[in-house]
Amino acid sequence: MFNIISYDERIKNFDWSISEKELDYQPGNVINIGWYCSDRICELGKADKPALIWEGSQGQEKRYTYNELRLTSNGVGQFLRNLGIQPEDRVCLFMDKIPELYIGFLGVLKIGAIVQPLFSAFGDESLIVRLDNAQTTAIITQRKHAPKVMKIIDKMPYLKHIIIVDADPSKPLGERQVAFDMDNAVKPDNFEIHPTKAESPSVLHYTSGTTGQPKGVKHVHYSLISQYLTAKWVLDLKDSDIYWCTADPGWVTGTSYGIIGAFSNGVTQCVLDSGFSAENWYRFIEKHRISMWYSAPTAIRSLMKAGDEVIKKFDLSSLRHLASVGEPLNSEAVIWSEKVFGKAFLDTYWQTETGSIMISNYPGMKIKPGSMGKPFPGITATVLDADTYEPFDGPGRIGLIAIKPGWPSMMRTYWRNEETYNKKFRNGWYLPGDRSSIDPEGYFWFVGRDDDVINTGGHLVSPFEVESALLEHPAVAESAVVSKPDFVNMEVVKAFVTLKPGFVGSKDLDLEIMNFVRKKLSPLAMPQEIEFIDNLPKTRSGKIMRRILHAKEWGEEIGDTSTLEND
Ligand code: WT7
Repeated sequence: MFNIISYDERIKNFDWSISEKELDYQPGNVINIGWYCSDRICELGKADKPALIWEGSQGQEKRYTYNELRLTSNGVGQFLRNLGIQPEDRVCLFMDKIPELYIGFLGVLKIGAIVQPLFSAFGDESLIVRLDNAQTTAIITQRKHAPKVMKIIDKMPYLKHIIIVDADPSKPLGERQVAFDMDNAVKPDNFEIHPTKAESPSVLHYTSGTTGQPKGVKHVHYSLISQYLTAKWVLDLKDSDIYWCTADPGWVTGTSYGIIGAFSNGVTQCVLDSGFSAENWYRFIEKHRISMWYSAPTAIRSLMKAGDEVIKKFDLSSLRHLASVGEPLNSEAVIWSEKVFGKAFLDTYWQTETGSIMISNYPGMKIKPGSMGKPFPGITATVLDADTYEPFDGPGRIGLIAIKPGWPSMMRTYWRNEETYNKKFRNGWYLPGDRSSIDPEGYFWFVGRDDDVINTGGHLVSPFEVESALLEHPAVAESAVVSKPDFVNMEVVKAFVTLKPGFVGSKDLDLEIMNFVRKKLSPLAMPQEIEFIDNLPKTRSGKIMRRILHAKEWGEEIGDTSTLEND
């Protein structure tokens, strides 16, 4: 029996009060995600249940029960409060997938501060635009990532504390640095949790758009109502599950379902903090008897590429339910997973802004491989005609995905960027920026994004950010960044570059520029290919026409080029 029981029954008269009741939350009362994910689970009698089982890249292991999660996050809260961190101050988490990241997340929320998770592979340029926009007060990080922060502190007067979780006691600390050993800190048993309310801000995730700097997506504590129930009904989390969400909490899947959805449902979750290899992943599943596995199409395609033979070396019989998110899950991957694991990966669709799963396949519902499924109960979704912003009369037409605002985990704004936030709405609909069609049975079929944002391996990369980074390289005169097809990552970043006088394109320069972007931004944003060209296609008004370069990479029709200047 699945938690959702029956999708068709659940969508009738659905009300979010179902979730509020299960969580014992009364509208108007205090709601604090940190408390719900640790203290409450202990109160429900699971204090000694393993909450987090962590494995590092050297095979080392750490375990935390729900009571340890509660106490250690109390310790984090106490430490931050002693530093003078105030409710609604932004506290950035800049760490690998180590236990401190998961526990720190709950600790920051417990004092009513806003948690700002940032992917630990980010370079100094990626870091500064996000910390600067959020005017972040404190950053919790590891020794190995601290130099990237130190490089930019002069430009960040707001950043008062750089908290190092693994400081070397024999070495002096740097400017604004403070050491904090989470496991061995004071852990108050009775900790006064800040009385956050439904609309109190909780998490600030940064996401990339086509133009302009990344946007800070502001979420509130009430998002729990969506995250708890979607984790329960879609991921089907049960008390007996051993759950593995492969996402990094630097991105929204890793927080909404790698922390909040998992712990609020009181399951045991495993975290693997090491690089990808098929063998290592299967070993991890076998060792921990993983039963629910939430992953991403790029990972699934990498596993497909590794072949079926390696699977036979492991006992994967513990797996009972699989789901995927982040990019289109092609039907081949669904069919393959059914063949090799005996279970299909269920595709789920959502984004940083929506905070929780919007459109999905549900346990027990008929799956159409290649389709994203149907809207979650309580979610009204459709596709709109891109010209009129009106829904189509019948099924089958491709349009803009549109969702009726009002679900609990919807973003509340873009941080200090209300104008861009307002642009996401038309005729009373929220537009996520994707295109899809709906078939006669109500299933959504993803078509593509409605902007130039590149989705590489499930991570959004802004061509604007990469182009800006490229322009800082001394050899680069102009650049245009588009995606190109890739079997594993679906698409990867490709840069077209014109060089300044005196520079000549070469393999060495190619590698140098790639590395330059990797260090400044991140490995994801690094172009996988650089093509040196003499002129970029431009409109008569001088705007670079990425559309033409994109079409060339994808072997598509170029379309209307009447505004093209240099053809
Ligand atoms: C964008 C959101 C939410 C988790 C991770 C990504 C694309 C997401 C699917 C899917 C096709 C998908 C969309 C979306 N996307 N899920 N199942 N099928 N595309 O969060 O970084 O905010 O990216 O990822 O384009 O808008 P994100």
